[in-house]
Amino acid sequence: MGLNRAVNLADVREAARRRLPRPVFDTIDGGADDERTMRRNEAAFEDLLISPRPFADVATRSTATTVLGRSVSTPVLLAPTGGARVAHRHAELAVAAAAATRDTVYVQSTVTSYALEDVASVADGRAWYQLYLPEHRAQTAAMIDRVAAAGYQALVLTVDTAVFGGRERDRRNGTALPVRIRPRLALEGAARPGWALDFIRGAVPGPWQQIRGLPVRATQEQILASPSPVTWADLRQVRALWHGPLVVKGVLGPESCGRMMDEGVDAVIVSNHGGRQLDGVPATIEALPAVVDAVAGRAEVLLDGGVRRGTDVLKALALGARAVLVGRPYLFGLAAGGQAGVEKVLDLLHLELDRAMALAGCATVEDIDRRLVTRARG
Ligand SMILES: Cc1cc2nc3c(=O)[nH]c(=O)nc-3n(C[C@H](O)[C@H](O)[C@H](O)COP(=O)(O)O)c2cc1C
Repeated sequence: MGLNRAVNLADVREAARRRLPRPVFDTIDGGADDERTMRRNEAAFEDLLISPRPFADVATRSTATTVLGRSVSTPVLLAPTGGARVAHRHAELAVAAAAATRDTVYVQSTVTSYALEDVASVADGRAWYQLYLPEHRAQTAAMIDRVAAAGYQALVLTVDTAVFGGRERDRRNGTALPVRIRPRLALEGAARPGWALDFIRGAVPGPWQQIRGLPVRATQEQILASPSPVTWADLRQVRALWHGPLVVKGVLGPESCGRMMDEGVDAVIVSNHGGRQLDGVPATIEALPAVVDAVAGRAEVLLDGGVRRGTDVLKALALGARAVLVGRPYLFGLAAGGQAGVEKVLDLLHLELDRAMALAGCATVEDIDRRLVTRARG
């Protein structure tokens, strides 16, 4: 299955699986421990059924919406993913460029192989920055200043990464970040020459490393940010330092929502890190309604985890999400086809959402509300 023939996100994943050495595929595809939460993220969408509205005038439709005051062509954003460089040598630059051409938002991870200024400039004003706090909190101010100066529109504080989750596929494969060519990978890479050539070319700066004329500057400084617990004091410090919209990523229950709003948080992302951190937590689509109720309109609520279909986007919006984000799907698109692969993933989701809206009787995203979905069981 090549990227050109891919008709859905499962096909794109398959195209990536064929191109990537197994340890690299696994480091993207895998989750924590038994991967129960990871599987549940996708499976829980199946437990929701859509009740279409007949007689709706859906001859003209729009998937456009706004997120934190910015318009986007479709309510599908690109989640922060560290280490995209293993998928494609243009990594974050290709993803940012795809977000720009498709008029959506790319959340750039702290864990990056390109300078955050270069990524922001390629994203053309459509980037948010996901922050892992530096180990020495005294450096937080300088980091946030740099993010602001680069032109990022919003700051996303990830709060579910006190330590790394137990990634057993990586341990079994002997994969450590950042990915380097070790004997096992060299062996697997030999059977995946397309990937190996791209990976090696990416390691050597050269004239081909140009996106829109931007010379690529790989920065080692941000490649490996160690995770650390985020406290209320950290949140307060970040809020005081960052003057734009502040987003908290990694919320799964209503408990902290009121306090987060009081502290000045503008949006929360219901996320379990794609099932890569604590195994055994609920699927995000299960956790969403209680968070929406607790936030009570005081902030925007977004969701990521297991979104693989336009109908999944529809269901998340029906349960109160302003927009969703995808992680693995666009990394697979990136692996299979660089910037064009990421654009393909966004196009497929847009097409599917538009079709789902038409068939469900929704002409605009405002028409998508809770009455549209019911629970299949229980
Ligand atoms: C390879 C990979 C790297 C990730 N790196 C980060 C990261 O650096 N920061 C972060 O907040 N989330 C990170 N995530 C989590 C994503 O932002 C997102 O929550 C998750 O991928 C959504 O689930 P999905 O992959 O099922 O769409 C990563 C996910 C993957 C798959």
